[in-house]
Amino acid sequence: MNEEPTGQEAKLRDQVRARYAEAATAVTAGTRNTTLLIEDSCCSPTVSSCDGTNASTKRSFGAGLYDATSAADLPVEAVEASLGCGNPTAVAELHEGERVLDLGSGGGIDVLLSARRVGPTGFAYGVDMTDEMLSLARANATKAGVTNVAFVKGAIEDIPLPHGAVDVVISNCVINLSTDKPAVLAEMFRVLVPGGRIGISDVVAEDHLTAEERAERGSYVGCIAGALSRSEYLEGLVTVGFTDPSVEFTHEVINGMHAAIVRATKPVV
Ligand SMILES: C[S@@+](CC[C@H](N)C(=O)[O-])C[C@H]1O[C@@H](n2cnc3c(N)ncnc32)[C@H](O)[C@@H]1O
Repeated sequence: MNEEPTGQEAKLRDQVRARYAEAATAVTAGTRNTTLLIEDSCCSPTVSSCDGTNASTKRSFGAGLYDATSAADLPVEAVEASLGCGNPTAVAELHEGERVLDLGSGGGIDVLLSARRVGPTGFAYGVDMTDEMLSLARANATKAGVTNVAFVKGAIEDIPLPHGAVDVVISNCVINLSTDKPAVLAEMFRVLVPGGRIGISDVVAEDHLTAEERAERGSYVGCIAGALSRSEYLEGLVTVGFTDPSVEFTHEVINGMHAAIVRATKPVV
């Protein structure tokens, strides 16, 4: 079991939790589109409102990254609550019968899409530390009539699932928010079966950007300051045991920082 963060790390995690609690509450209250209350609460360097009314934000984060067909029959609250930077369910190429875990599941969009892809013989878990997001996600699952899902409270640095519990780990714009990324990578490896894989969307920095230069481009809670560089991601994945790691930039979010697809495999032996 990994230890709870202390000091500055605990403060940052509390800020992250507070921001995303606010975002979930606004979606639940139906005020997400009309208020600046949650300004800078989304994954974005320059948020003018959490629905991404800023045009470049809209292209980089949130519901606009899903094709209309895949999100069509999901509850509007699940789609509106989308704060990710990609579509990891498409990245992970899920199959019937697989068990999937979404780290930082938010309002549940990727868990619900995963549940649909893996079908009744599969299962999708979401883990999130924020009570308001968990309530929203559970309500969305009920509205969608999806039953092969569970939303579990926990930290992605200490995943509340046993070893080898899932075939695939996905995540959408969350790992950059962690104050202990090596622990998250090690936990992903632990909960995967041998031969399991990760398909992750995240913000990733070009290698030449220092930590200070990343922080100049956006806040920690806005998914920018805490982003790993491409080399840091690749090295971190290899260190915990993954093979064939790759980081593919998909679109630039802000100068030198990109939404990216991260893939890797847990070896069979
Ligand atoms: C940017 S939102 C993304 C939500 C969702 N993946 C999506 O695409 O809409 C980040 C989510 O991760 C959760 N989160 C952030 N850090 C976390 C941590 N260390 N452990 C568990 N959940 C975390 C937040 O509560 C929030 O729901």
